[in-house]
Amino acid sequence: MASFWKIIFKNSSVSQALRSELEDDVGFLVRPWPGLLGFTLRYLVYKPLFHRLAGMPFIYPGVYFLHLNHISLGQGVLINSNSYIYAKGGLSIGDNTLISPNCAIVAGDHDFSHGLIMESPCLNQEIIIGRDCWIGANVVVVGGVKIGDGAVVGAGAVVTSDLEPYSVNVGVPARKVGERPRGPVTLS
Ligand SMILES: CC(C)(COP(=O)(O)OP(=O)(O)OC[C@H]1O[C@@H](n2cnc3c(N)ncnc32)[C@H](O)[C@@H]1OP(=O)(O)O)[C@@H](O)C(=O)NCCC(=O)NCCS
Repeated sequence: MASFWKIIFKNSSVSQALRSELEDDVGFLVRPWPGLLGFTLRYLVYKPLFHRLAGMPFIYPGVYFLHLNHISLGQGVLINSNSYIYAKGGLSIGDNTLISPNCAIVAGDHDFSHGLIMESPCLNQEIIIGRDCWIGANVVVVGGVKIGDGAVVGAGAVVTSDLEPYSVNVGVPARKVGERPRGPVTLS
């Protein structure tokens, strides 16, 4: 029991721990709802908790957020079912970007250089995803990475380094295999 509380407070202050508790409880209440009711409910509840929410996003059922106050979403962002978004190091997603189902976007690592993993300090590293990107199903994006505007990431890729704007990238680690044309920057 003591080690449980030691781990909880190793990487967070009391106020952070309480905030995480609130986010978890609120998330549990709003995550499962389907359809327009779900989109609307999640928008209304998350709006005051996110760092920035530019417009009403399409957040599908089952998307799990941690550290909501470090997340900035542009207009018209879509995050599909069961994606896991850990934003302790900061996360920004640009306008009209689409995150497919089951992605893991994790803006934080454990410092594994010494000691036990469970007691290791967290290394928080920001993730920036540009506008008009498409992140395929089951993609993992690790901390400290910048994905340029318009980039495409194929299903199952692991993004460990920056991706060029309007590039198409696949694999583990994600590598550029092509380019897509630069289109309009707003929806018609
Ligand atoms: C990447 C993707 C968009 C195709 O892009 P594309 O520019 O048309 O790429 P191509 O099909 O020409 O493939 C280029 C190369 O990458 C490989 N490739 C394509 N997708 C890949 C993937 N997801 N993982 C690994 N390799 C992949 C192809 O086999 C090909 O390799 P080769 O040159 O050795 O033959 C598509 O394969 C993909 O992954 N889509 C995501 C689907 C998805 O997640 N949908 C969710 C909807 S919300």
